[in-house]
Amino acid sequence: MCPATPITVRAIPRTWCSPNKSYIITGGLGGFGLELARWLIQRGAKNLVLTSRSGVRNGYQYRCIRRWRQDGVDVHVSAGDISELRTANRLVREAHQRRPVGGIFHLAMVLADGLMENQTAETFQKVADPKVRGTVYLDMASRQLCPETLDWFVVFSSVSCGRGNAGQANYGFANSFMERICEARREDGYPGDSGFLLLSLAALVLTLIILVVRLERHK
Ligand SMILES: NC(=O)c1ccc[n+]([C@@H]2O[C@H](COP(=O)([O-])OP(=O)(O)OC[C@H]3O[C@@H](n4cnc5c(N)ncnc54)[C@H](OP(=O)(O)O)[C@@H]3O)[C@@H](O)[C@H]2O)c1
Repeated sequence: MCPATPITVRAIPRTWCSPNKSYIITGGLGGFGLELARWLIQRGAKNLVLTSRSGVRNGYQYRCIRRWRQDGVDVHVSAGDISELRTANRLVREAHQRRPVGGIFHLAMVLADGLMENQTAETFQKVADPKVRGTVYLDMASRQLCPETLDWFVVFSSVSCGRGNAGQANYGFANSFMERICEARREDGYPGDSGFLLLSLAALVLTLIILVVRLERHK
């Protein structure tokens, strides 16, 4: 008998979404939101719930949604303010009734930039509401309503948190708060990630690839 020889298989890991789960994107009609929706669809997602306070407002949003629906993707637009507990509960409950929730991506944001001497309690509150309250309420709702099915709980943070950005102390604070909630979630055994790290790594890898390609061309 020959001893078994191990076989090495070269593989590239690829993110995959279940067509039988739903994926929630708060701020899903914004710039990154629509790109994230497209990315999830390319990876198999068939059920998306996109939220914003005002719903579909421009032709680009309308066109994206119409095209995805034509391709057989169930895209539900849910208008509501994620900084309200009842909206977060309703959002997760309704999405879960459509399909078990597999992912919550929290992108909703507003900005109120200004140097520290021009910042007020109101400008901090305005920026904190969707990010801080929104994350707290989504965390609570997801623990209660979809603890078994949730694979991803991702908040979109920013370089303004940790490194800092002039005029964005309130934004940095709100992002930092979201990241701490994700840490607490992970400690409790729930999924919780900050999208900024992933975005930064993706950008770094892309930059390196472009550099290598350019160097090869100039050889
Ligand atoms: N853009 C960047 O360069 C960048 C860099 C790093 C990180 N990020 C992060 O990526 C995320 C998305 O950025 P973006 O550039 O795509 O922003 P965006 O285009 O301004 O989109 C934000 C969306 O959030 C929605 N929104 C705001 N407050 C809400 C609330 N209370 N409830 C529900 N929806 C609300 C807005 O729609 P309504 O006004 O209709 O509610 C809007 O569609 C943000 O969290 C941001 O911090 C962005």
